[in-house]
Amino acid sequence: MPQLGPYALKNPWVLAPMAGVSEMPFRVLAFRMGAGLCPTELVSAQGLMRMNPRTVRYLRHDAEVERPYVLQVFGGEPDVMARASVMGKEAGAQVIDINMGCPVKKVTRSGAGSALLCDVPRAADVVRAIREATLLPVTAKIRTGWDANSRNYVEVASALVDAGASAIAMHGRTRAQGYSGKADWDTIRQLKAALPGTLVIGNGDVKTVEDAHRMLEQTRCDAVMIGRGALGNPWIFRQLNGGLPPDNDERCAVVLAHFETHCAFAGEELAAVRSFRKHLAWYAHGLRGASAFRAEVNTLDRGEAVHAAVRRFFQEAEADAEAAASDDYDLDYRTALG
Ligand SMILES: Cc1cc2nc3c(=O)[nH]c(=O)nc-3n(C[C@H](O)[C@H](O)[C@H](O)COP(=O)(O)O)c2cc1C
Repeated sequence: MPQLGPYALKNPWVLAPMAGVSEMPFRVLAFRMGAGLCPTELVSAQGLMRMNPRTVRYLRHDAEVERPYVLQVFGGEPDVMARASVMGKEAGAQVIDINMGCPVKKVTRSGAGSALLCDVPRAADVVRAIREATLLPVTAKIRTGWDANSRNYVEVASALVDAGASAIAMHGRTRAQGYSGKADWDTIRQLKAALPGTLVIGNGDVKTVEDAHRMLEQTRCDAVMIGRGALGNPWIFRQLNGGLPPDNDERCAVVLAHFETHCAFAGEELAAVRSFRKHLAWYAHGLRGASAFRAEVNTLDRGEAVHAAVRRFFQEAEADAEAAASDDYDLDYRTALG
């Protein structure tokens, strides 16, 4: 099984860091369903340094379940990243993951996220600074390059490993590609071939159990990271470990339990109900009546009403291949931060 610093992972299945999704309740759910690793969504190093209350709240985690607890930070300055990582360590982080894939201008403008791919010495300095300051295992999540003319992932990853990185996760698209086209799994194969002694985590377009096994086989990577394929489908991790898909009763119970932990985490009822709508939309994907259910829950603002709607919908849920195929409910990935 994959080894991350001193931590032996239970299996090679990793939940992708996803802003607004990979919060504590969803990470805990994914771990319980069998994921081997669930990093946090990206957290601003500047925000941590300034003790911004909203940023500090991202550090909440469940130390019993989240083992190891991987904190993803973003920033462009080695000393700021190092100081923020020390704060993360003090809050319980056991591994620091550096975001080097975020394509969003607000992030890249300050030299963070995928902008680090364009400045390899600085990217390596960030790894070194965090290693020296925290003594924790450091990992990085990269893309294949800034654009088609600068697919420098082997150079970037080799420099990061030389600087002390324990693992490299790579989304097989360039920054310029955003989420368009297909992830190029051959780049993941080439990265693993170039770094045979490093934990390489492949990422991009793994939607099914079959995809995950195919990625392992085709690329020889050590672990597979799943993002959009886990939205509304945390059971994918159980199925990857040989378990069964959920029946209606279980699906309903898990959605309700997720909602409860989400409410406790959000703290405020209306905010919780609103921010859970996206999860409900994903959970309903592929089930008969999904679009009417989404329209309904978008009008609800009380937890009790959500409970009732969830019970009505999921207890009677029937798979609907036709509806699933024509179901165009999707995220606007242009705003996705990885
Ligand atoms: C809603 C959303 C939010 C994301 N946020 C992050 C993030 O905070 N940090 C990060 O490294 N990647 C982020 N990503 C990128 C994913 O981790 C992953 O690299 C990408 O979705 C490709 O994997 P997939 O095809 O399995 O979804 C995000 C993606 C999505 C869809």
